[in-house]
Amino acid sequence: MSKLNIALVGAGRRGGGAHLPVIAKLKDVYNLVAICDMDEEVANRYAKQYGANPYTHIRDLVKREKLDVVDITVPGTAHHAVACFMADAGVNIIIETPIAVTLPMTDLMIEAAKKNSVKLEVAENYYRAPRERFLSKVIEGGAIGTVGRIYRIFYEGGYHGMSMLRLRAGGEPKSILGVSQTTPVIPIIDRMKRHHTDERWTMGFLEFDNNATALMVYSNVIHARSLGRGQSGISQIDGSKGTVVGEEIYVVPATDLETGARGVPHTPTRTTIDVDGVKVIEKIELELPDQVVTWDNPLKHYPLSEGQIAVADELLSIANAVLNDTEPEYGAWLARQDQEMNIGMSESAKQSRETLTFPLTDLTETERSTHESYEKQHGHPIDDIEASIDTFFARR
Ligand SMILES: NC(=O)c1ccc[n+]([C@@H]2O[C@H](COP(=O)([O-])OP(=O)(O)OC[C@H]3O[C@@H](n4cnc5c(N)ncnc54)[C@H](O)[C@@H]3O)[C@@H](O)[C@H]2O)c1
Repeated sequence: MSKLNIALVGAGRRGGGAHLPVIAKLKDVYNLVAICDMDEEVANRYAKQYGANPYTHIRDLVKREKLDVVDITVPGTAHHAVACFMADAGVNIIIETPIAVTLPMTDLMIEAAKKNSVKLEVAENYYRAPRERFLSKVIEGGAIGTVGRIYRIFYEGGYHGMSMLRLRAGGEPKSILGVSQTTPVIPIIDRMKRHHTDERWTMGFLEFDNNATALMVYSNVIHARSLGRGQSGISQIDGSKGTVVGEEIYVVPATDLETGARGVPHTPTRTTIDVDGVKVIEKIELELPDQVVTWDNPLKHYPLSEGQIAVADELLSIANAVLNDTEPEYGAWLARQDQEMNIGMSESAKQSRETLTFPLTDLTETERSTHESYEKQHGHPIDDIEASIDTFFARR
């Protein structure tokens, strides 16, 4: 397999900061040739650490480097601009979540990728985590029957949450009801260095076309695990013959079906192996009365921690798409759909809790105000790509 030249744009705190050590471990697939960040100190520091060339502007990056893939981890409001520019330069893209902050911005990216025949993958990592890949196998294997309801309370929210609810429901989203409330909190800086002065709380209730429903409760302070919020969450998937609670799978012994039908918990076991001094998950296995479910880690030969597996998975998704001329596993359309559900939740809350149906056909108030504040803050509209890529997008 020939190696792909990759550059990372936006080396910041979390997106870029988490991707770089993983790219470095995928040496058989990627040559990390450049790191670009408008903050010169950041570009130089990471470039030195990873033996790559530093850049402070993407115009210079594409002029001087021959790139197969770019990993874009600039703040979300800048995603569409950097992605459209890189697509026009003929570079395949993996971009951090959300794909973009509004659907028109997302559509600019999808059109640019299509026009230039480049692949576009989105780094949605939640469903790629070993635990979630394993639970997907449990549900697909029929252990809990047909999924009817999903609860994700105090877990991930926004587009990440929507992505998980859509996956677990196994259907197309039909409608959403959103409720939101903002309350003040004392000024805090969380462990990811995000600043909070209020708690933006949301609740979403979704219906899917296969009759499944889902309930999500989330806030920025819950996500940050600050002030004691979200110290314990509920992740429950109710099926016609069993339930998944967290990582435990409840099924009823055949003999008890008519005498209480109490679910008996079954806990999966993890097997690890040592790879270059790193404890790597080899497999997750679960023994049920009528079947054994096993998830084998397809990346077990890499020295990846459990948290790094999802990042490696998405980086390999775009590599495979480029090398084999196939579509990436998640891709722009599912990312768009998850962001559409997220926007729908916010819009429903704004419209006096009116239930909204999918697809959203008109520009929502939520998106209109995002576009307005973008223009007010940066002095150009969202579709002025040239002006946008000269803009520094500050961290929140
Ligand atoms: N998937 C996840 O779980 C997850 C978690 C955290 C962050 N993210 C995403 O990762 C991305 C980055 O988040 P972060 O917290 O690391 O942000 P950050 O602000 O810490 O880093 C972004 C970097 O981009 C640079 N930058 C800004 N404008 C630029 C431009 N025009 N050209 C080049 N560089 C520019 C900044 O200097 C900064 O170093 C965001 O899209 C965020 O939503 C995803």
